[in-house]
Amino acid sequence: MTTPPTATTVPFVGRESEVFRLGAAWGAATRGRPTLVVIAGEAGIGKTRVAAETVRLANDTGGTVLSARCQEAERSLLLQPVLEAIERHAAQLPPDVLRRLAGQRAAALAALVPHVGSVLGPVLTTPASRTVRRHLAQEAVTGFLHALAEHQPVLLVLDDLHNASDATVQLLRAVARSTGTRLLVVATVRTTEGAAVLEALADVANRLDLGPLPPAAVTRLVTEAGWADLAGEVRDRTGGHPLFIVETLRDLAAGGTGVPDSLEAALLGRLRRLGTDTERVLRAASVLGMTVDPATLARLVDLPLQQTATHCEAALSAGLLTAADGGYDFAHDLVREVVYATTPAPARAVHHLRAAELLDHRPEAMAAHAAAVGDWSRAARGWLRAGDEAARRLATADAEALLTQAGEAARRAGHAGLEARAETRLRKLRDSG
Ligand SMILES: Nc1ncnc2c1ncn2[C@@H]1O[C@H](COP(=O)(O)OP(=O)(O)OP(=O)(O)O)[C@@H](O)[C@H]1O
Ligand SMILES: [Mg+2]
Repeated sequence: MTTPPTATTVPFVGRESEVFRLGAAWGAATRGRPTLVVIAGEAGIGKTRVAAETVRLANDTGGTVLSARCQEAERSLLLQPVLEAIERHAAQLPPDVLRRLAGQRAAALAALVPHVGSVLGPVLTTPASRTVRRHLAQEAVTGFLHALAEHQPVLLVLDDLHNASDATVQLLRAVARSTGTRLLVVATVRTTEGAAVLEALADVANRLDLGPLPPAAVTRLVTEAGWADLAGEVRDRTGGHPLFIVETLRDLAAGGTGVPDSLEAALLGRLRRLGTDTERVLRAASVLGMTVDPATLARLVDLPLQQTATHCEAALSAGLLTAADGGYDFAHDLVREVVYATTPAPARAVHHLRAAELLDHRPEAMAAHAAAVGDWSRAARGWLRAGDEAARRLATADAEALLTQAGEAARRAGHAGLEARAETRLRKLRDSG
């Protein structure tokens, strides 16, 4: 979620008690009680949409909203989502306001957030140990949020926290235990993939579990889309799963011949109707991930940029992609997963191999592509580089995880040299505290 979807074509239905609880949490936050609410549930159940309702509430009541999505395979970037949210907000502030907000933490903040660095110019830093620098980074972020909240209450939305690094989770723990800041943090977590994150935050967060939509809410969605006569069938088939409902309605609108049997059927029918060329481009995109950068995709499928963009536009019209900053996103993570899972393995392997070559500048992503095709030496090299980067950015626990992964990959590759390198780095990391 680059920008929370405050408005979509489908009206918001149901979830009255959840919205009530979030409203109460926002009320408490505006009175100076920082609160962390974790919205948990399976994929496509409506977590991001409920978070977006909180954004609407905060916007309507004079709050400042900061938001970002936790990216998969970006653990080496310390505090990635929080810094991204701050960066985006800072870019809209006049320099003098930003300077005031950064206050005494200007140096630490400038080192973390490029825009702050460019506005404040070179700042003097004093050498410090890894632990001290990590503490300063955390303090710079919490201090900035605190300063911001002195003007207006702040809502920080972090989508897909199951992808977050340990450093980010620890920062949220610190924020949730602080006092006196008018701050509400709302994070969404997939229950299936986020067990560790949920556990790490269990004692400091208010947890909101989402289940299926109630039958009356489903009926309303289907009726408002103009398919009242199919309401019963959609209710039974989808079991109240919001994404399945939304994709069913899109499929019907795009000429589908009845209520599809599954989410997969709802998506694939539309994908096929786009034609084999667009289908091929979209299947390649699904290998790259949620975010579709047209330039990278064009190189992946060996087509001119303009032609690739035309295919993306067709997928956009069919509701399989959405427009995002400088490119496209898959309409939903599950949409990407279905497209990926139904792509034949040999075609996937070809794309992964090529993606590993194209993404050499993003070592963690590169390593994941190499691992997907069993190129363990290349994966080990990527994770080693990502681990070094995480260590440089003081994300120690994440560096440890990446270097451990590098060691395992090197072992699978039977590459003793790389394995030894990973172990040396790990030892150095542990020694440096
Ligand atoms: N209460 C609701 N009313 C109307 N539409 C909804 C509601 N909840 C979810 N939707 C729609 O269902 C789809 C899936 O919801 P959403 O993206 O919020 O799921 P999610 O739980 O965040 O999934 P993921 O774990 O994959 O991120 C979206 O298109 C969303 O707009
Ligand atoms: Mg979501």
